[in-house]
Amino acid sequence: MINRNHSGAIKTVIIIAMTVLQMSCTTKTPSDLSEESIIPKPVSITSTCDYFTLNAKTAIYVKGETADIIRIGGFLSAILKPATGFPLNVKSTIEAPGSGNIFLMLSDSAETRGDEGYLLTVTKKQLKLVAKSPAGLFRGIQTIRQILPSDIERDSIVERPWEIATGTIVDYPEYSYRGAMLDVARHFFGVDDVKRFIDFLACYKMNVLHLHLSDDQGWRIEIKSWPNLTIHGGSTEVGGGTGGFYTQEQYSDFVKYASDRYITLVPEIDMPGHINAALASYPELNSNGKATELYTGTEVGFSTLSTKKEITYKFVDDVFRELATLTPGPYIHIGGDESHVTKKEDYIPFVERVQDIVIAHGKQIIGWDEISLSTLRPNATAQFWANAANANRAVSQGAKILMSPAARTYIDMKYDSTTVLGLSWAGYVEIDSSYIWDPANYVPGIGREKITGIEAPLWTETITNMKELEYMVFPRLPGLAEIGWTTSSERSWEEYKVRLGKQGARLKAMDINFYRSKQVPWVE
Ligand code: ACM
Repeated sequence: MINRNHSGAIKTVIIIAMTVLQMSCTTKTPSDLSEESIIPKPVSITSTCDYFTLNAKTAIYVKGETADIIRIGGFLSAILKPATGFPLNVKSTIEAPGSGNIFLMLSDSAETRGDEGYLLTVTKKQLKLVAKSPAGLFRGIQTIRQILPSDIERDSIVERPWEIATGTIVDYPEYSYRGAMLDVARHFFGVDDVKRFIDFLACYKMNVLHLHLSDDQGWRIEIKSWPNLTIHGGSTEVGGGTGGFYTQEQYSDFVKYASDRYITLVPEIDMPGHINAALASYPELNSNGKATELYTGTEVGFSTLSTKKEITYKFVDDVFRELATLTPGPYIHIGGDESHVTKKEDYIPFVERVQDIVIAHGKQIIGWDEISLSTLRPNATAQFWANAANANRAVSQGAKILMSPAARTYIDMKYDSTTVLGLSWAGYVEIDSSYIWDPANYVPGIGREKITGIEAPLWTETITNMKELEYMVFPRLPGLAEIGWTTSSERSWEEYKVRLGKQGARLKAMDINFYRSKQVPWVE
């Protein structure tokens, strides 16, 4: 039992009651909801020591006929069908369904909190999920997945009982922004890969996908008014491979795929540095008017847009106009990091003017923490990755902070000295290091109220395909998702590592290539 909101007296009564209940939760398997491994850890779990069974007659009843709730019902059905082989039809209803069914409904019930909160009640007769908004139902469905046997993640029929322990889960997130970043510029990842990455985020209740769409090595998003960005600038990647890019249609497909999972897409075009792919595609963006060569190495900090030429601002305006039109979410990420060859006196007015351009296209700014050197516009967010002084300067200007400390959240860092993939400039990041920290006391001076959430960036200098990506992402991503969702006073490494270990079989069933850290007692 976990609880963060009751007074001490109520808490004591509940704990005593729970202890009695848990003592009786011994006869059937599974019979103890509080023993299930759920990541991120929910706010509160109460066990009632029995179980609900999915069977061939189970249907998913949804109350109301809105497109959202019917789609969410369909999503749950699609998850549960392959391994169970049951039809799990989605049916619209106005009444609670009969015994043996799943029931999804929207309600303003006081027990569910915020846009992503949900209340899951499992009895012997019914599995009921209630939320105030569709996003909450979607998050709750991820919990339903995790309280079913791990075989539920298999893609072909497994003959076995499908039992779920009974009880109640009340749940809602600590932070409103819980994201991951994928660098598709250093190595290009195709449409299906990006969708699989979105699926990973969805599983752990994350709600933002930040796509790093341009860098020295490649430009990955079609910009119709500057076509050579992708034709030439997208034609290679680190190591000299053929690279690639997303058409605007493919990008819109990501937006929809993500938004169907209540995940917001944040596109980044990094500038004024990390921009060689554009400089190689258009000579006029260079101070000397000459196009650079394409670049396939991994150095950083050598390129800059010409900040003095008017054509640069036409370019920036065109790029962000097209991106803003394609992006329904509130944010555009302007990069701003490691512009080592842009003079500070040029960097500052450039970033200010770029902020104004993005705002003129109706979006809010996110930028790496260096952008705080400039005067930040209202509603700007600085993404802290390395420099505490930059982050504090952002806060002193009224900006919010997105926490991505490299030494904790950079999931491209090696786990230890033996890890073949990844980099190590921010140190080795084993599973415990990535889990044992609190965003609200990591940077002196930046407390909870300044922080929108956390993001785990995956840079891909060394990562060339999905199996390699999975190895770096898992199992760090679930822990980082938990840091965003579960309040820090409810988290402990000793408890988490056991819960994570119990998900070994689930990761395997999902065909995920994960790092079997010796720190974790894996059960596969
Ligand atoms: C960064 O890692 N250069 C933001």
